[in-house]
Amino acid sequence: KLRVLSGIQPSGKLTLGNYIGAIKNFVELQNDYDSFFMVVDLHAITVPQEPAALREQSESVAALFIAAGLDPAQAAIFMQSHVPAHAELGWLLTTLSYMGELERMTQYKDKSEGKDAIGAGLLVYPSLMAADILLYNSNLVPVGDDQKQHLELTRDLAGRFNYRYGDTFVVPEPLIPKVGARIMSLDDGTKKMSKSSPNVGSYIALLDSPEDIRKKISRAKTDLGREIIFDVQNKPEVSNLMTIFAQCSGQTIEQVQAAYDGQGYGAFKKDLAEVVVQALEPLQKKYSEIRSSGEIQQILRDGAERANAVAQSTLIKAKEAMGFLPQV
Ligand code: TYM
Repeated sequence: KLRVLSGIQPSGKLTLGNYIGAIKNFVELQNDYDSFFMVVDLHAITVPQEPAALREQSESVAALFIAAGLDPAQAAIFMQSHVPAHAELGWLLTTLSYMGELERMTQYKDKSEGKDAIGAGLLVYPSLMAADILLYNSNLVPVGDDQKQHLELTRDLAGRFNYRYGDTFVVPEPLIPKVGARIMSLDDGTKKMSKSSPNVGSYIALLDSPEDIRKKISRAKTDLGREIIFDVQNKPEVSNLMTIFAQCSGQTIEQVQAAYDGQGYGAFKKDLAEVVVQALEPLQKKYSEIRSSGEIQQILRDGAERANAVAQSTLIKAKEAMGFLPQV
């Protein structure tokens, strides 16, 4: 079986963007691939985190994985920090990375822009992400569009390591969905929907109440004109809402467009709100069940055990290839 791996940061609340661009696809892949999905808490601390909030968010994201349909009997679900090999290979790959290529990452540029105290972790973030992926000899990495550049760097680092020290890592392929790889913000069709946005109206959180979802969608920005037409260039906001409609209802964009031919934004938004509420309802119900059952600890323990077995053996190979004295 080919191997799939991906991760999500436990920072802020997960959004519909995380769901459509990533988690939904994890669920579809888990039966056909040897799957590893983690909560990347070591990545979250590249910006300051309040300890109690980090703890709560970490457990919440792990529970959301399962609520969304990941099956712990199939996929290993674990915390990145429960597998020490991540931090260790992260360091080894940091020493293989160039300042220039790290400084070129758009996520780094966005997050550091205008700040005079930039945490060093923000810069070396992609080398840790490369470690996450390479430790498992992952073949496929399902991510949204914004992670494409990090995946390219991961491939470069894998190639560089293999060239210098001999074949050690599998060079992974990104798996970016054709529809929904970049869900946009509800208040600006040119910015991606983000859990770190200060405007809570700009995103739909997976745990938003039905009333909040309806309110946010009714207030979502729409383009001039009145037709429901998919045209990203000229109608970015309506096109984004159509993408969300298609992804939450299981229809194609063409079907959505045909269904709303001749109708106005009002009717479309009303239906969209119901489609989103219905898509999230089972997830939210399962989420509360899991949080109150206390199952999550055992799931994470099993996941970490499976992950550690794979990661540790890759780490040992990589260290030996680099010339570290083996521990006997
Ligand atoms: P993160 O936590 O920012 O986002 C998690 C996943 O959600 C996707 N995503 C989106 N997709 C569509 N539309 C959006 N608006 C949207 N916002 C987020 C992201 O592309 C991502 O797939 N560096 C990663 C986490 C990471 C990782 C890894 C991923 C760490 N190690 C190893 C894969 C493999 C990140 O910050 O994702």
